[in-house]
Amino acid sequence: MAFYYEEPSRTFSEYLLVPGYSSTRCIPSEVSLKTPLVRFARGEEPALSIQIPMVSAIMQSVSDDRLAVALAQEGGLSFIYGSQSIEDQSEMIRRVKRYRAGFVVSDSNVSPDMTLQDVLRITEQTGHSTIAVTEDGKAGGRLLGIVTNKDYRVSRMEPDMKVSEFMTKFEDLIYADEDTTLKEANDIIWDHKINCLPLVNKKQELVYLVFRKDYDRHKKNEHESIDASKRYLVGAGINTRDYAERVPALLEAGADVLCIDSSEGFTEWQKITLDYIKKNYGDKVKVGAGNVVDAEGFRFLADAGADFVKIGIGGGAICITREQKGIGRGQATAVIEVAKARDEYYKETGIYVPICSDGGIVHDYHVTLALAMGADFVMLGRYFARFDESPTKKVNINGSYMKEYWGEGSARARNWQRYDMGGDKKLSFEEGVDSFVPYAGSLKDNVNLTLSKVRSTMCNCGALTIPELQAKAKITLVSSTSIVEGGAHDVMLRDKR
Ligand code: IMP
Repeated sequence: MAFYYEEPSRTFSEYLLVPGYSSTRCIPSEVSLKTPLVRFARGEEPALSIQIPMVSAIMQSVSDDRLAVALAQEGGLSFIYGSQSIEDQSEMIRRVKRYRAGFVVSDSNVSPDMTLQDVLRITEQTGHSTIAVTEDGKAGGRLLGIVTNKDYRVSRMEPDMKVSEFMTKFEDLIYADEDTTLKEANDIIWDHKINCLPLVNKKQELVYLVFRKDYDRHKKNEHESIDASKRYLVGAGINTRDYAERVPALLEAGADVLCIDSSEGFTEWQKITLDYIKKNYGDKVKVGAGNVVDAEGFRFLADAGADFVKIGIGGGAICITREQKGIGRGQATAVIEVAKARDEYYKETGIYVPICSDGGIVHDYHVTLALAMGADFVMLGRYFARFDESPTKKVNINGSYMKEYWGEGSARARNWQRYDMGGDKKLSFEEGVDSFVPYAGSLKDNVNLTLSKVRSTMCNCGALTIPELQAKAKITLVSSTSIVEGGAHDVMLRDKR
């Protein structure tokens, strides 16, 4: 006979935290959000930690090198998506590791034959007003000029006017050699009263752009995620099919941690992949696995050597797994059960295996709840897709700016490896949708706001660290009637001005 759970599975919105005693020491500026990323033995320090408990989802519409840098600057970590060629994914990893703070690889480029209309489209999509003109229209091409909004007047010029006719030509640009330091670049920017300095190599190919505003901004990042050589930390998604080729390439490119990206992790495929990595690289290479939603799944992956375990099936914003296949579990229930299993495993073996709650974070307070329920960190897709730094297009829909966001199981992503159960190399049906999410501005501003709420709630619970929150949190289920009470009610809202 089938096994029946006694309780329904629940999600974050069905719970609230009940405040505990907070002393005068409990102030948000004293809260540490540092959290382990990979397994460690009792009494030892984890080989990898992050400064904030947030990582970005292994998705085409979320985690590329640009988002990875922005998140590492705030103390988190991205897992660059694996649903691309091994070469392209490795190149993204390399770009993060090569990234020099303040030195930007131009992502808005045109060729001289393109038109004013193309420039306006790119500016609208990326929000960037400085566009590099290169021979082939690509980031590392031979630099022929720069276009900024000072070079054109939309009302006076034809949309099909060629870029070559109105760009500021290379001969008239202030530029510098690729080896210029950030301090030197900044001095040149100030001496010549310019906003952007292109750095080129001996072949006149564009290597970096240095912006006036980035120099000041960089000085303010105190809690970055960096390795021993002060390069940003970055993770990479892998699958259970081509790991023998993908893993060596990603490690060679400099990936700091890997994660098997799969919709269902309680499988022999994951064990085979973990065995391969541990056999070939021992303990040096850190790799997470998942996703699971119960204690059994957790223990299987922990025993198989996973360095962290990811939780969540069916709760993602773009996910239709539950309606397509009828599998999954309410995210809160899954986290609570797996956290209990993680603690028991630690008691028995002395090995702490961090757990990550993946997907279904809708409100900022869901992050605090996930942590309080036992998650060591959370993975978010929809949340990060809304920001300037995500890889997708910003579009204007009926007067509101939106960003594209599509699932890895959608026909658009075609990530069949994520859903692979040993079948054909194709998606036989979709498990994700292609959608839009409201554009929300910069990653830095949003992450800081979210975390200020997390810190504040932690203080209400009398906790200055995540383990303290997990030990002290008092969590209550809420009735559907009191959920209504949770928002503004019985008032008529004034217009938001
Ligand atoms: P979100 O933060 O609610 O948007 O959820 C993001 C998570 O959804 C990812 O980290 C994946 O675990 C999961 N996911 C990504 N693409 C798909 C899909 O196409 N179908 C189902 N789940 C997906």
